[in-house]
Amino acid sequence: MRTAVLISGRGSNLQAILEAEEEKNLGDANVVLVISNNSEAKGVILASNYSKNIEILDIEEGEDTLIKILMKHEIELIVLAGFMKILSSDFVSRYVNKIINIHPSLLPSFPGLNAQRQALESGVKISGCTVHFVNEEVDDGPIILQSAVEVLDEDTEVDLASRILKEEHKILPNAISLVSQGKLDVVGRKVRIVK
Ligand code: GRF
Repeated sequence: MRTAVLISGRGSNLQAILEAEEEKNLGDANVVLVISNNSEAKGVILASNYSKNIEILDIEEGEDTLIKILMKHEIELIVLAGFMKILSSDFVSRYVNKIINIHPSLLPSFPGLNAQRQALESGVKISGCTVHFVNEEVDDGPIILQSAVEVLDEDTEVDLASRILKEEHKILPNAISLVSQGKLDVVGRKVRIVK
C-alpha cells in the first residue's frame, strides 16, 4: 500500500515507522513519500537518510497542492505523524478511512494541543496514546489502537510525554501494518481487528 507520512517537526514517529519498515514489520505498507509543511523539520533530514521522496508543503499552499502531490505519488494511505495542520472536511472526505493520526492521550480525553499537559492538569492517573482514523473533527475519528501509561506524582510534562512517546512508537507502526493488510473492520465508531 503506497503510504505517505506527513510531519511537521522532530519525526520520532516517522523514525519508528521507517525502522519498522526496514524490519519488515509494516505489513503491506510501503512508505514512498514523506511530506513536511516545515522545511526545517528534523524529520526531513531523517527521511533523506532513508532515501525517501520528500515534498515540502509551503505554508501558503493550500490543500490543492497537497492533493496534487498525493495523486502524483499514487498515495493510498496517509499517516499523520506529528503533522500540525488541520485537514479540511473536503480533504478528509476524499480519503475516508485512509488517513490515520497518532495523538498523545487516551482519546476521547484531551484532544487538541498540549495533550500531556492537559492530562497532568486534570489529575488523571493513567494516560497514553491513540491511533485513530481521521474524520472531520479534530482528534475524533474511530479508534484503531491505544496504549496506556501510568501518570506518576512527580511527573513533569516532559517526563509524561517521553513515557507516552515510547508507546506511540509501538502502536503507530502496528496500526499501519493492520490497515495495510486490510485487517480492520470499521463499523460506525468501532474498529475491530479481523482475526
Ligand atoms: C507526537 O507526540 C504525536 O503524538 C503528536 O505530535 C508528536 C510528534 O512527535 N501528534 P514526532 O515528530 O513524531 O517526534
